[in-house]
Amino acid sequence: MVLNIVKLGEDDVLRKKSHPVAKIDRRLKALLKDMAETMYAADGVGLAAPQVGILRRVVVIDVGEGLVELINPEIVSQEGEVVAAEGCLSVPGRRGTVKRPEKVTVRALDKKGNAVEYQAEGLFARAICHELDHLDGIVYVDKMIEDVTEQTEQEEG
Ligand code: NI
Repeated sequence: MVLNIVKLGEDDVLRKKSHPVAKIDRRLKALLKDMAETMYAADGVGLAAPQVGILRRVVVIDVGEGLVELINPEIVSQEGEVVAAEGCLSVPGRRGTVKRPEKVTVRALDKKGNAVEYQAEGLFARAICHELDHLDGIVYVDKMIEDVTEQTEQEEG
């Protein structure tokens, strides 16, 4: 089911801290599925649960290398810095540059409750940082260096 994406300014759910997932149950699996459908329907590369009004530490990402579902994700190491443009499905029609780590290692649970770890770089690393920020009530515009709003690229998360 495609869910409604909360837009910045509409609801303060985007400004709250999400709670860790305590139990991976049928409801959480349904949420993951709906979040992936919503992300693909909106042509995004990532979506965090608060963007669909759910304050849980759950993220989906697909930067063109397949769907990645992260439950209770944590960045355990990071390396380098890179400034690049990004957008957000909760801030439609805008893009801006943000400084992010070049590489990150993220640990999380998958939907079976298994510990997973990803070593990410490039757009995948950027998407992880962007989506994890959402879990702490941070929207990329808070960190934006420069507005580069022009409809030239289509990478939104
Ligand atoms: Ni976003």
